[in-house]
Amino acid sequence: MLKDKFGRTFPYIRLSITDVCNFKCGYCLPNGYQVDKKDNKKFLHLDEIKRLAKVFSKLGVSKIRLTGGEPTVRKDFFEIIKILKNDANINKVVITTNGYHLDEKAKMLVDSGLNGINISIDSLNRNIFEHVTGHDRLPEILKGIKILQELNFDKIKINAVLLSGINASEKDFNMWGEFIKKNKIDLRYIELMRTGDNLDYFNKYHISSKVFKDYLNKNKWIYQTFGKDAGPSLNYINPDFKGKFGIIAPYSKDFCRTCNRLRITSRGDLRLCLFGNTGINIRHLLQRDDQIKELQDLLFTQMKFKKESHYLELGETGLTKNLSTTGG
Ligand code: 5AD
Ligand code: SF4
Repeated sequence: MLKDKFGRTFPYIRLSITDVCNFKCGYCLPNGYQVDKKDNKKFLHLDEIKRLAKVFSKLGVSKIRLTGGEPTVRKDFFEIIKILKNDANINKVVITTNGYHLDEKAKMLVDSGLNGINISIDSLNRNIFEHVTGHDRLPEILKGIKILQELNFDKIKINAVLLSGINASEKDFNMWGEFIKKNKIDLRYIELMRTGDNLDYFNKYHISSKVFKDYLNKNKWIYQTFGKDAGPSLNYINPDFKGKFGIIAPYSKDFCRTCNRLRITSRGDLRLCLFGNTGINIRHLLQRDDQIKELQDLLFTQMKFKKESHYLELGETGLTKNLSTTGG
């Protein structure tokens, strides 16, 4: 099992399989994904992903989240799920998606054996959704969610990035409340993070998640204490609602204490932290089956360099230009 100096273990990997994204979220890729013509390195291919997952599986990893960019833009996306589940024996394979064409993909996603889906929806208001993402695609996403539910798939979470003046008013919170009252879906607000690229946007729209916390307290939501592998979300329940509310506040003091994940970028860089500038390329050790031992050793050594915290509160943004390379 991989373990760092602070006693944290890592049963969970977030694997970005592409940087490409077809949305233009204001805080991430406001001008859309730009192909870098000088950079002809391709994203990790199937064989590399298979070796990677096998090694991590040996090291006690039981859950892999596929992220992007937008992971479903990869033509071999369903093949990747199959490999993780069947060849590498990963127990839980989950994805984070922007929901593009979810209505068309819902059935295939369920059939693939996927264990959970996080969908990014910043607002239930169609115009605001379009304003933030640059795409008028809320209806197809909501239709996709309906289809998932009709197929009895209930491991659905929605992430919304909290944006001052856009989706952070009592009216917005109530709109989500109505939605999770009827639907067994968890809605988590993520506090906007500052990245290398989004400083102006951050200064304009960042708001502390305290506004949402105050709303939850005022409306009798009950804070649920951490489970063992709860992850970084603070969860709130209410007996009158089928879904839960959650808050992901990366700037909060204790955010890193429960960190249980490592990240791999789409080009095979190990990232010890979403924001840390710690990370090395491991792709050269994914080329042959007999490199397993060497890769394991390297991963164990790297664990020594994982820091206690991201130090975001000190204005550190690390290597992260935007989250499309690490998938949030
Ligand atoms: N701050 C907070 N969340 C972000 N995401 C992307 N960029 C940021 C940012 N700067 C979110 C997306 C998605 C998840 C992958 O990360 O909206 O929900
Ligand atoms: Fe794409 Fe996600 Fe970035 Fe939005 S936040 S542009 S959906 S990668």
